[in-house]
Amino acid sequence: MKTIIITIISLLGINLFADIENGKKLHLANCAICHTTNGGMAFGKDFNIVSYTRKKEDIKAYMKDPYENFKRFGYDANAMPTLPLKENEIEDIADYIDSLQTFKVWMKK
Ligand code: HEC
Repeated sequence: MKTIIITIISLLGINLFADIENGKKLHLANCAICHTTNGGMAFGKDFNIVSYTRKKEDIKAYMKDPYENFKRFGYDANAMPTLPLKENEIEDIADYIDSLQTFKVWMKK
């Protein structure tokens, strides 16, 4: 019984705190070889630019299926692989990228 309660609490905890910090870790493990966050130029765009120019929903859509989205995003070809990420991981990474820039291009007057 005790184990079940502890398991439930920790599962809830993961959901409550599943967030930007986790997204950062997932980014380092899955995206950082191709996407920098310090203004650098790697294979893909720096995530600060992505954060400034893209909506969270679009960032998620790209992560889920780059091939389906590359034309809509303005690319001629798709080199980014579809990564085996879980739904909650996609959510956390998108939250992390979204948090990098609080001012967005669509806020410009
Ligand atoms: C093997 C290198 C590689 C990895 C790993 C990679 N990407 Fe990409 N990504 C690219 C490239 C290259 C593009 C440019 C478009 C294309 O080729 O699909 C891109 C484009 C994108 C875009 C669209 C950017 C824009 O605004 O135009 C997003 C969002 C994105 N990647 C997110 C991610 C996330 C999140 C991860 C990690 C979960 C990741 N990528 C992992 C190479 C990569």
